Amino acid sequence: MENQLSAGDMTARVLLTGASQGIGRAILLALARSRHFVLGVSRTKPEELADPARSLESDHLAWRPLDLSNAADVAQCASSLEPLAIRALILCAADYGASERHPASATSTQEWQQVIATNCVGHCLLVSRLLPKLITNSPGIIINLSSDVALLPGPGRAAYAASKAGLHAMLRAIAAEHSVECLRVYQLIPTFQLITKGIRRRRPIGFDFSSYADPALIAQTVDQILSPSGSSMAPGTYLVRRDGTMDRYPEITHL
Ligand SMILES: NC(=O)c1ccc[n+]([C@@H]2O[C@H](COP(=O)([O-])OP(=O)(O)OC[C@H]3O[C@@H](n4cnc5c(N)ncnc54)[C@H](OP(=O)(O)O)[C@@H]3O)[C@@H](O)[C@H]2O)c1
Repeated sequence: MENQLSAGDMTARVLLTGASQGIGRAILLALARSRHFVLGVSRTKPEELADPARSLESDHLAWRPLDLSNAADVAQCASSLEPLAIRALILCAADYGASERHPASATSTQEWQQVIATNCVGHCLLVSRLLPKLITNSPGIIINLSSDVALLPGPGRAAYAASKAGLHAMLRAIAAEHSVECLRVYQLIPTFQLITKGIRRRRPIGFDFSSYADPALIAQTVDQILSPSGSSMAPGTYLVRRDGTMDRYPEITHL
C-alpha cells in the first residue's frame, strides 16, 4: 500500500531523497516544522513516521519507499508523483560505498555499480523525469547536497567521487538549459563533516567526533533557501561554513 499516494502525499510540495537518516532526515523534520509539506523517499522508513503519533511534525510529512539504484523503481516513483504539485526537489541520498578507503584498482564491480547507480544515475533519472513538473510550478528549486569530492577528489574514494561529480555536472547542465525564472539549482558543499549514520559506519570504533557538526546545521540552510527570503539568493554552488554562512563557489563557466 505504501506505493499508493495517500492524502499526506497529495499535499506534498517538496520531494526529498535520503529521508530515513542523517542530513536528509534532519532536513525532512526541519522543513515540516517550518510547515512545508514534504514527501521523503528512501528504502527504509524514517522512525518518526513509523509511529506518527510521536511526531509533532507528522501532519506535514509523508514517506514512500524508493530504491534509487533501481531505474525501474525510480521511473515508477516519478510517474506516480504526476498528480502532485512538487516545486522543490532536495537530493540527500548517498551510498558511500565500502567502509574502508581503498584505491580505485581495488574497487569491486559491485561497488562501482551500486554507488554510481544510487548517487548519480538514480538522481539523474529522478531529476530529469520531474523537471517538467518543477518548471510548471516555477520557479522550480533543486537543492543538491553535493560534496567537496565532486570538485576535489582525493585518494581512496573513487566510486563515491565519480558518482558525486557526475550528479554535480548533470545539475550544472540542466541549470544551463533553463532560465533562473524557471529553475533555480543550488548545490551545497559542506566545508566540514557532519555526524550521520553513514559517516559513523565509515569511522573506526572510538573515533572522536567532537569536531563534527550536527546535521541540523545543514537543515537550517536548506530551510532558509526555501523560505520567502531565500528567493533573493542567486542559484549556484555554495561552500557552507560551520557558522552557517555560505560562500558562492565560482565554477568555471568558460575556457
Ligand atoms: N555527512 C557528511 O559529513 C557529508 C559531507 C558532505 C556531503 N554530504 C552529503 O550529504 C548527503 C547525506 O549524507 P549523510 O551523511 O546524511 O548520509 P547517510 O547518513 O549515509 O544517509 C544516506 C541516505 O541515503 C539513503 N540511500 C542510500 N542508498 C539508497 C538507495 N539505493 N535508494 C534510496 N535511498 C538510499 C539512505 O536511506 P535508506 O538506506 O533507507 O535507503 C539514507 O537515508 C549525501 O549526499 C552526502 O554526499 C555529507
